[in-house]
Amino acid sequence: MTYRHPVEADQPRLVGLVDEWFAGRHVRHLLGRAWFRHVASTSWVAEDDARSPIGFAIGYSSQDRPDEAVLHLIGVDPNHRRRGIGRALLESFLADAAAAGARSVTALAWPGDPIPIAFFRALGFRPNDGPGSRNLYGTPAVPDYDGPGEDRIVFVRKLTPG
Ligand SMILES: CC(C)(COP(=O)(O)OP(=O)(O)OC[C@H]1O[C@@H](n2cnc3c(N)ncnc32)[C@H](O)[C@@H]1OP(=O)(O)O)[C@@H](O)C(=O)NCCC(=O)NCCS
Repeated sequence: MTYRHPVEADQPRLVGLVDEWFAGRHVRHLLGRAWFRHVASTSWVAEDDARSPIGFAIGYSSQDRPDEAVLHLIGVDPNHRRRGIGRALLESFLADAAAAGARSVTALAWPGDPIPIAFFRALGFRPNDGPGSRNLYGTPAVPDYDGPGEDRIVFVRKLTPG
């Protein structure tokens, strides 16, 4: 098992796997080549001993809000879950973000998805329950956050800058 920053050549393989890893949710459009070409140095990939990808965390430090980092998307191969890979990927991203001066990290999740909700809570994220949020399937979320019908939980974790 190796953790490393992705390279552009990782994109075709991961984009072919990601919808399956997200249990059929169509997210491949969220994993376009630009993420691997332009934000690889703040992102992470896990690969097994055969050098096949088994997880990824794509994220960046905000250009316009230097205090904030954003976890764009995280996924782990279903056959390798509950072994700490998601935690290790996310903690690598959080450590880099803190070292770069971020004071908080945001991550979006879909209301009603129990596994990522449990995961982000376990990693110290809390759902934004401020103005504009509403209880959706038991968790504070923002209706239409990403467009009509695109409700999201906006998870936030505070960081101590490194
Ligand atoms: C969310 C995801 C990345 C977690 O990856 P993972 O490698 O299985 O997570 P970890 O093993 O590091 O789990 C860390 C902690 O999260 C929580 N957790 C993870 N999976 C869980 C589950 N199925 N049920 C309950 N809690 C869970 C636990 O507290 C766990 O710690 P523990 O195993 O010591 O109890 C993975 O399930 C996934 O890819 N899901 C589909 C994609 C997705 O929804 N991504 C998030 C939105 S971008």
